[in-house]
Amino acid sequence: MDVVLQVWRQAGPSAPGRFGRYEAKDVSPHMSFLEMLDVVNEDLITRGEEPIAFEHDCREGICGSCGMMINGMPHGPQRAVATCQLHMRSFRDGDEIWIEPWRARAFPILKDLVVDRSAFDRIIQAGGYISVRTGSAPDANAVPVPKDDADLAFDAATCIGCGACVAACPNASAMLFTAAKVAQFARLPQGQPEREARVRRMVTQMDAEDFGSCTNHGECEAVCPKEIGLEFIARLNRDYLMATLKGESS
Ligand code: SF4
Ligand code: FES
Repeated sequence: MDVVLQVWRQAGPSAPGRFGRYEAKDVSPHMSFLEMLDVVNEDLITRGEEPIAFEHDCREGICGSCGMMINGMPHGPQRAVATCQLHMRSFRDGDEIWIEPWRARAFPILKDLVVDRSAFDRIIQAGGYISVRTGSAPDANAVPVPKDDADLAFDAATCIGCGACVAACPNASAMLFTAAKVAQFARLPQGQPEREARVRRMVTQMDAEDFGSCTNHGECEAVCPKEIGLEFIARLNRDYLMATLKGESS
C-alpha cells in the first residue's frame, strides 16, 4: 500500500513548525506504524535530509513514550492501543495520514513529534511512591489484600504515563493520569500511611504544572490505551476532598 504522510516538523522548542509531506510507498499492512516511520526515516537519511524525530522505547505498549496524534486521534484510530501497537492494516491504500505531537501547554514540543512530559514525572515525585517500610516481597505476600482492592489497584497501575489523556482533553487536564497514580496506592494497605498527604501533594503539583481542570468531557477515557476509566477521577476527587477536610480540621 502507498500512503502520504503530513508530519509536523519543528526543529526545536522555539522554532516555528510546519507540516512536511512525505510519500511512503510499498508499505506492508503488517508493518507497525513506527516501522513505517522507520522506513520513511531511512529514506530521508539516504537523501541527506533530517529524519523525523519521534520517541519510542519498548514498542510493546509498556513504556508510554511513543504517543503522537494520528489523524487527530491520540495513538491513532484503534482503541486501547499505544502508537507502537498500531499497524498499517488500520489504514487504506492511498490514505493521507496527518501526524502531530501532543498539543498541551504542559507538554512543550522539543522536536517534531517529541514533547517534554517531565511534568508527569514531577507529579510522581510529589507523592507517587511509598516511603514507609513495606518489607521484602515475602512480607508483602503475607499482607492480606481483598481481591476487589487488588484488582482496582492493578487496573490503576496499568497507566503507562503516555499523556494521551492530556492530549485528548479540550482542557489539557491531567486528572486521569493523576487519578490512576493516586489510586494504585490508595486501595492497598501499604499505601494508607501517606494516603492523605499523597493526594494533596500530587494534586497541588498537577495544578502547578499548568494542566487544565477536568470538566467531564470523557475524552481521556476514550483514548486511554489502557482503558483507565473516569471512575478513577471520581475516586481522586473524593480522596482529595477527604484529605483537604481532614487537613483543615486538624
Ligand atoms: S491514564 Fe491512560 S492515557 Fe493517561 S497517561 Fe495513563 S495510560 Fe496514558
Ligand atoms: S514504545 Fe513503549 S509504549 Fe509505545
